[in-house]
Amino acid sequence: MSKSIKVVVTGAAGQIAYSLIPRLVDGKTFGDKIVNLALVEIPQVVDKLEGLVMELEDSYFPNMGEVTYTDNFEEASKDADWFLLVGSIPRGIVYNGKKIEERSDLLSINGGIFVDQGIAIGRYGKNNAKILVVGNPANTNAFIGKHAANNDSQLWMAMTMLDANRAKSILAKKTNNNVSDIKNMIIWGNHSPTMYPDSENVQILGELGSSVINDVNWVESDFIPKVQQRGKAVIDARGASSATSAAKAAIDTVIACENPTDPGDCFSAAIASDGSYDVPKGIICGYPLMTLEDGSIEIKRDISLSEFAKNKFQISIDELLSEREAVKHLMQ
Ligand code: NAD
Ligand code: LMR
Repeated sequence: MSKSIKVVVTGAAGQIAYSLIPRLVDGKTFGDKIVNLALVEIPQVVDKLEGLVMELEDSYFPNMGEVTYTDNFEEASKDADWFLLVGSIPRGIVYNGKKIEERSDLLSINGGIFVDQGIAIGRYGKNNAKILVVGNPANTNAFIGKHAANNDSQLWMAMTMLDANRAKSILAKKTNNNVSDIKNMIIWGNHSPTMYPDSENVQILGELGSSVINDVNWVESDFIPKVQQRGKAVIDARGASSATSAAKAAIDTVIACENPTDPGDCFSAAIASDGSYDVPKGIICGYPLMTLEDGSIEIKRDISLSEFAKNKFQISIDELLSEREAVKHLMQ
C-alpha cells in the first residue's frame, strides 16, 4: 500500500491552478504516493470547483486519492503535508479602478490573506508541513504567513523557481545548450524586478558561468533585466500573468523538495534568512537550496559572490526590508 499525502491548493479555480492541480496527482510529482487534494477558493467562486473535480475524476489518475473543495481554509488545512498558496490577485488587472502594474502594488491587497491562512497552517497543518507561496508579492506574503503561523518546524517558501527556469532558458539559448545542461541556477533576493539571477555561479555543462560567458555587457544589459522583467513581458503579450510556466515551476519546486539534490546542484526558492550571506535574519530571501538525504532542506553555503553580485543582491535585500516595513501592521 503506497503512502498518502495531503496537499492544499488555494486559488484552485484560477489560471495557475488549472495547470497545476492535474500534475499533483499524475504519479510523477509525488512518485507512487496517493495524493489527497483539498482545494480552496473564495465563497464567490468555490462552486466552480465542482467542474474541476469532475474533470479530475474523468482524467484517469490512479494516484489520485480523495478530492475535496471548500471556502473554509481552516477545514482544508487539517493534517496537510503541503500547502500551495496560489490564491491572490495577479497584476495586470484593474482593481478598485486602478491598473495593478507592479507586484509591490499587490502588497496591501494580498498581504492580509496570508495572516489568517498562516494562523490556520500553524495550528492545523502537519508539523513538518511545507508551504510554497506563489501569490504575489510572494516573498513578503510568505513572511506574513510564517509570522502568523508561529510554528518553526514548518518550512515556508516563496517561489523563485520560475525565475530560475527563465534564466536557464536564456542561458541555454545564449550558449547553444539544452536547458538540462544548466545547473546551480541561483536567484538571489526577491521575486521582483530587483532579483539577482546569478550568471557567475551557474554551471553550464559543468563549467562555471563566469568562465563560459565572457560578456559583462550582455549579462548587465540583457540577461539580468530580461529575467527580472519576464513576468511583465508575459503579461503585456498575453493580457494575463504567466500561468502554465508558473504551474510548472511550482511542480519543479515540490519535486526539488521531495528528492535529494544532485551533488553540485541546487534549486531556487526563497526561505527565511538565518543570516546566511549577510542577509538580515527572518526576511524571506531567494537562496540556493539543497534537499538532503534525510529530506531536510538547507541553504547551500559555499557560493562566493563577486562585488558585482553583492551589489546587485543588496538592492533586492533592501527592497525586502522596505516591504517588511510596509506590512508591519500585519505582524501582531
Ligand atoms: P487568477 O486570478 O487566475 O487566480 C487566482 C485565484 O485565487 C482566483 O480564482 C481567486 O478567486 C483566488 N483567491 C483569491 N483570494 C483567495 C483566498 N483568500 N483564498 C483562496 N483563493 C483565493 O490568478 P493566477 O494567474 O492563478 O495567479 C495567482 C497569483 O500567482 C497571482 O498573485 C500572481 O501574481 C501570482 N504568480 C506568481 C508567480 C511566481 O513566480 N511567484 C508566477 C505567476 C503568478
Ligand atoms: C511572474 O513572474 O510571471 C509572476 O510573478 C506574475 C507577475 O506579476 O509578474
